[in-house]
Amino acid sequence: MPIHIESLAAAATAAERRELNELLGACVRGGASIGFLADITEVEAGEYWDGVLCAVAAGASFVLVARDEGGAIVASVQLAPALRRNGRHRAEVQKLMVLPARRGRDLGTQLMAEVEALARSRALRLLFLDTSEGAGGARVFYEKLGYTYVGGIPGYALDPDGAPAKNAIFYKAL
Ligand SMILES: CC(C)(COP(=O)(O)OP(=O)(O)OC[C@H]1O[C@@H](n2cnc3c(N)ncnc32)[C@H](O)[C@@H]1OP(=O)(O)O)[C@@H](O)C(=O)NCCC(=O)NCCS
Repeated sequence: MPIHIESLAAAATAAERRELNELLGACVRGGASIGFLADITEVEAGEYWDGVLCAVAAGASFVLVARDEGGAIVASVQLAPALRRNGRHRAEVQKLMVLPARRGRDLGTQLMAEVEALARSRALRLLFLDTSEGAGGARVFYEKLGYTYVGGIPGYALDPDGAPAKNAIFYKAL
């Protein structure tokens, strides 16, 4: 199945916005700890993506999307460079998500490779991210990709089911 990965323009179409809402909703309802609770609404998801697309328009964030053979968005990840002058070599990788039906086929790994290539192309040399240590997290996934674990904060966020969970903070020097 051919998958195409590209940057999403800030002027996303209505169809793209619908697909992004579905991606976020499916991941959160499936238990992924990515900033929302399991009862996430369409409005909440829409407002979230509105904010992301504003950040893209302002040059403060980049969204990579993976599209299936029909062009529909099936996965995404974000790169948010630090804006302060003393941190312009670093960026946070945020909200990696793959539709549940598309998991286990290397898509997450491919998106991480693309986000690292994007970072390098913008002279970003230090990536950091966090995930949940609870059921909603993906610690082993990042370890397999060579990210270094530096610790976590107990009770940092609620997993989608409402359970408080420690986060796991990772970095990779490019
Ligand atoms: C985490 C996620 C992005 C992985 O995507 P994917 O396309 O299924 O990942 P891949 O197929 O590239 O898997 C690569 C490896 O990581 C492992 N892996 C995948 N998801 C994992 C998870 N949640 N926890 C631990 N390991 C995981 C796979 O088993 C695979 O290992 P292998 O190479 O030994 O077979 C996907 O499961 C997802 O969208 N989860 C919900 C959102 C989320 O948790 N995001 C990350 C937290 S910020």
